[in-house]
Amino acid sequence: MCGIVAYIGKREVYPILIKGLQRLEYRGYDSAGVAILNGELKVFKKAGKVSELVSFAKGKDVKGHLGMGHTRWATHGEPNDRNAHPQFSQSKNFAIIHNGIIENYASIKQELKKRGHVFESDTDTEVLIHLIEDIYEHGNVSLEEVVRLALGEVIGAYAIVVLAKEHPSELIAARKGSPIIIGIGKEEGEFFVASDATPIIEYTNNVVYLNDGEVVFIRDGKLTIKTIENQVKIPYITELEMKLEQLEKGGYEHFMLKEIYEQPVSIWNSMRGRIDASKGSLKLGGIGEFENRFYNANRIIIVACGTSWHAGLVAEYLFEDLARIPVEVEYASEFRYRNPIVNEDDIIIAISQSGETADTLAAIELAKSKGATIFGVCNVVGSSIPRATHAGSYTHAGPEIGVASTKAFTAQVAVLTLMALQLAYKKGTITESRFHSLLLELEQIPSKVERALKTNDKVKSIAKKFKNTRNFLYLGRGYGFPVALEGALKLKEISYIHAEGYPAAEMKHGPIALIDENMPVVVIATKNSSYEKVVSNIQEVKARKGIIIAIVTEGDDVVKYLADYVIEIPETEDILVPIVSVVPLQLLAYHIAVMRGCNVDQPRNLAKSVTVE
Ligand code: G6P
Repeated sequence: MCGIVAYIGKREVYPILIKGLQRLEYRGYDSAGVAILNGELKVFKKAGKVSELVSFAKGKDVKGHLGMGHTRWATHGEPNDRNAHPQFSQSKNFAIIHNGIIENYASIKQELKKRGHVFESDTDTEVLIHLIEDIYEHGNVSLEEVVRLALGEVIGAYAIVVLAKEHPSELIAARKGSPIIIGIGKEEGEFFVASDATPIIEYTNNVVYLNDGEVVFIRDGKLTIKTIENQVKIPYITELEMKLEQLEKGGYEHFMLKEIYEQPVSIWNSMRGRIDASKGSLKLGGIGEFENRFYNANRIIIVACGTSWHAGLVAEYLFEDLARIPVEVEYASEFRYRNPIVNEDDIIIAISQSGETADTLAAIELAKSKGATIFGVCNVVGSSIPRATHAGSYTHAGPEIGVASTKAFTAQVAVLTLMALQLAYKKGTITESRFHSLLLELEQIPSKVERALKTNDKVKSIAKKFKNTRNFLYLGRGYGFPVALEGALKLKEISYIHAEGYPAAEMKHGPIALIDENMPVVVIATKNSSYEKVVSNIQEVKARKGIIIAIVTEGDDVVKYLADYVIEIPETEDILVPIVSVVPLQLLAYHIAVMRGCNVDQPRNLAKSVTVE
């Protein structure tokens, strides 16, 4: 949450910052602001989207070659101009942008108030820049040392960038718990700093990922990295895999729609080089040396949040079904605080698109401290979670910009299916012939998803009928249950319609009371082991005059006569139903949201990367 971008070099900084902020807007869009140091330290900031900032700064003097920008997802203080970043110090000689939470800000603020500091905002961030200035004025030490000393007093998570008027060719950034990437520019003495690679990619491929507890000082064209405790670190330069065109809409109206349509390719990319049905081979390289621990695991605990948690639920069914290992799926935010029982024989799988979710990271650290082996299933290469885990597999879905996750989910499920299958094969819990037929079917999945995308027109016509509905119910059984949860989540996230996902059979224990002639019920009713049971559940809804929108297998001729609307998807193995059946649900949520005039790529109050707990 919150996006950070900064630049020092010879180019005009303002356009770099604005473009960068537009790329980072998915991390939060409550307010945006820039600071430019060019003789004076100027700040321009505005509540709302980056476009508001652009209109506000129009015609103003934004010239300069050193600056920083921020897009905010509010934690402390409502999203208004005053609380927007950058925040100034008391004298306005220092400015800061910040992603994270300073937990002990209240006590520091009280102390500073006693010393005469007056605060203009309600943010924790402003307290930190006042502290920096306070130490600078009273400490008789270098700026570098001042920042390190101030950070030493702070409890919490942060990624920060600091500019100081008296240091016109210096930029300082630091991280603890929130990401910072440094781009090494192609021009001499040119550097970029950002929350992720998206603002950097068009200028350079060479980046350094700052580690927790490190501070970077860019001074007179040179870069130095130190720990907060003043230990010098050698910058490790890596090359970005990302391509610029992946960050553009490519002719689609929204990133979300583009990402939904990318799924045949992104799912294939998640399996490419890992399976070969013709040779009967399956190998997830990232598991490597930890393979034996995996086979001998007592149980698997999956930790994740949001859509990734839904992928985790699918994985629970997969691992238990195929590999016969007991699995628990945990919300990372609950797991980390409930004193869970974890031991050395446990395998933890942390699933995360961004690789930055604060709760998931904390859950990993907790499990690590208890001796468990941690695997990651992440999308963003080089992000914090893959670096905190013992081993893992990237999903290779490519950058996902739409806040509502789509292609990352199907890639996660694909990778988790490979993991479960590899384990099952090695443990001998599935037969050779079933293993082969599942590999063959996996290779067909991208083309089946392509066919599922052909339901778009039909889904759009259904969306038109339900765009003003206030509530939705989503039902599924077995592998269809996590899909029902994910379908409901997509709808609430982007259309603000209340939607609930439920196991179809549980409907009788509560949600059935909600059903009347106005209640649309989306049911995953594909041909699989629980088909007949789901058909009975559909009848129960119809008996109460509910409206059924059914996702069925192509050629189904039973549900067709019961349901009000049917959406046909290609037949596939039970275990692969989630990947194919979620596609029309993504499209349904998308079209309803567009028809309601919602901002599908940037839904209100949400952020793509949740780096605060
Ligand atoms: C946020 C996003 C969701 C995402 C969740 C977990 O809430 O809006 O789309 O599923 O975080 O994020 P992660 O990056 O860990 O998968």
